[in-house]
Amino acid sequence: MQFFIDTADMTAIQTAHDMGLVDGVTTNPTLIKKAGLDHETTIRQIATITSGPISVETISTDAEGMIKEADTFLQWGSNIVIKVVMTPEGMKAVRALSSRGIKTNVTLVFTPLQALIAAKSGATYVSPFVGRLDDISTPGMAMIQQIRTIFDQYQFDTQILVASVRNPVHLLEAAMIGADVATVPPDTLMQLFQHPLTDSGIAKFLADAAAWTAQ
Ligand code: E4P
Repeated sequence: MQFFIDTADMTAIQTAHDMGLVDGVTTNPTLIKKAGLDHETTIRQIATITSGPISVETISTDAEGMIKEADTFLQWGSNIVIKVVMTPEGMKAVRALSSRGIKTNVTLVFTPLQALIAAKSGATYVSPFVGRLDDISTPGMAMIQQIRTIFDQYQFDTQILVASVRNPVHLLEAAMIGADVATVPPDTLMQLFQHPLTDSGIAKFLADAAAWTAQ
């Protein structure tokens, strides 16, 4: 399973990249706003860190506007993926962009049938949001399993990009199901390292090494 990092924060992306944990980056308007720089500068900077796919979200509500934005975004790096919302106009844009060989990521997906629509439109990635479903007492990971079953059954090439990841268990379950990608917030990525037995094991080894090197 590939790890994308779900942030526009340059320091966080660089840190994760240096550990070999960035296969790609996902952004959205909220993350761009949080990072504090303008959209183009942010994406261009991210493109200097990673050669993996960078999802850049369109904000137009009509297909023509989305395609126009896409043509601008594609100038910002050689690895840009156009993020489009799950609407009828969005799917028109995905179809047009994919027919030109442009990679797309369909976002704000909350049901397996929305994922099926995205795949039929030719999306490169589909982003089902697990955390936001969990927030309304609907098990997000059940949707991932259903999408995996459907995509395997009909041999779609569209990749399942698990989004709205909130904790390590989301990642464990995504990997067990066989999701293609999970996009992970920086804090959750760092949580993956944590285990008390790792910490106590390091402390013991360091203490023993100190005693041994003092001999
Ligand atoms: C990624 O593409 C999504 O925009 C992101 O994972 C949404 O996460 P959130 O539900 O925590 O905002």
